[in-house]
Amino acid sequence: MTPCVVTATMSAFTFGETAMATAADTHDPFELFDKAMGADDCRDPYPEFAEMRERGGVLELDPPTGGMAAFAGGFSKYYAVVTHNAVSQVLRDAKNFSSGAYKDSMGVVMGPTILVMDEPEHGRYRSLIQMAFSKKALAQWEHSLVRPVVNRLIDAFVERGSADLVRELTFPFPVHVIAGMLGLPDEDLPQFHRWAVDLISVAFDPPRGIQGSQSLAAYLTPIIEERRKHPGEDLISVLCSGELDGNRLDNEHVLGFLRLLLPAGAETTYRSSSNLLFALLTHTDQLDALIADRNLMEQAMEEGLRWDPPLTGIGRLCVADTEVEGVVIPAGASVAVNMASANRDATRYENADAFDLFRPARQHMSFAFGPHRCLGMHLARMETEVVINALLDRLPNLRLDPTAEDVHITGRGFRAPRSLPVVFG
Ligand code: HEM
Repeated sequence: MTPCVVTATMSAFTFGETAMATAADTHDPFELFDKAMGADDCRDPYPEFAEMRERGGVLELDPPTGGMAAFAGGFSKYYAVVTHNAVSQVLRDAKNFSSGAYKDSMGVVMGPTILVMDEPEHGRYRSLIQMAFSKKALAQWEHSLVRPVVNRLIDAFVERGSADLVRELTFPFPVHVIAGMLGLPDEDLPQFHRWAVDLISVAFDPPRGIQGSQSLAAYLTPIIEERRKHPGEDLISVLCSGELDGNRLDNEHVLGFLRLLLPAGAETTYRSSSNLLFALLTHTDQLDALIADRNLMEQAMEEGLRWDPPLTGIGRLCVADTEVEGVVIPAGASVAVNMASANRDATRYENADAFDLFRPARQHMSFAFGPHRCLGMHLARMETEVVINALLDRLPNLRLDPTAEDVHITGRGFRAPRSLPVVFG
């Protein structure tokens, strides 16, 4: 997305698939988005990524065709960076690889937002909210918000002995959390979750993206005005009190942050926690080890993020001819930064395709690097730890439903299992 989320819309076309969703009249934004991001069509992109790495760290690709090309703003040169070294170099070099790549897509629907800004502007705006996402600041949310949300959702199925962990837990919980942090009423939650997903659908359905953006503005503007008059402890109040050069952030900039945080906070964590659960439920020896020793939680979470990240890639715009791994990427080229491929680079990770929470800790790329490194990574980790611990504490003998057929992770830009049917007790 988006941010984090969002950014995978780039990867969806630069990694070689035409991701046009057919406009459906009965519009289910979640289904349309999943389909456009390759769900069901793409079960395992990793052999293709491995084949790309064999050809080199930096590859020139054919420009995309169809609606994506029209929307991509006329880039004539496309490159993919696919090895750990190449991805790392591009993400750290924000001077030559600009986030302005998103200006004509996410910039249009989000408004002024840190995702599309370059330095020094980016750092000035990011610093306004960075503190609110520090580990220390998040501790209060863990107790007052995240644990109660997770436990309330588990309460609804704990007596049943079976559940679909995606539909009943991992999909809804992150959006409850971000809504709680913004101080939005619970009853508005399904609606603004839909608008947030409409908004990030902009890369394959621009009118839908713009409509989602306008609906969010109409919904959030009166709330922003109210928080300016009566500030609280929530993130909207934090943003409203933010000052740059002695001036308060205007509504457009507050809205820009909010339009980014909603999808960033919801889409990614739902998918990463689902992918980790899938990995554990299909590697039961490692699940048992984690149940026996919760000190393994951190390495389990990092391995889950490395092995199958929720978001496979992000985009950058090359602004000056730059050599990466012996290839000169020309100024003006669009660059698909394939983090999922970097995470499976065999020169860095032994037996890279295996999920192995015992592997030696080595930094993965899933939160990106450099100035745009995920602002919400401590929140995502804390949420994941809470949700996995709660499941292991409350659902004894947790296992995949043996009658369920072919449970698997799917998707190209964004990845997650469609469902996780489990039994317990
Ligand atoms: C496992 C879950 C998550 C993953 C894998 C993830 C991944 C990423 C990545 C790769 C980026 C860089 C995007 C780019 O530069 O193009 C990013 C940026 C960002 N993420 Fe996340 N994210 C996650 C969760 C969250 C959460 C929970 C939040 C907050 C609610 C969040 C907020 C943001 C924001 C605001 C940015 C923009 C930072 C900037 O441009 O300076 N993310 N994320």
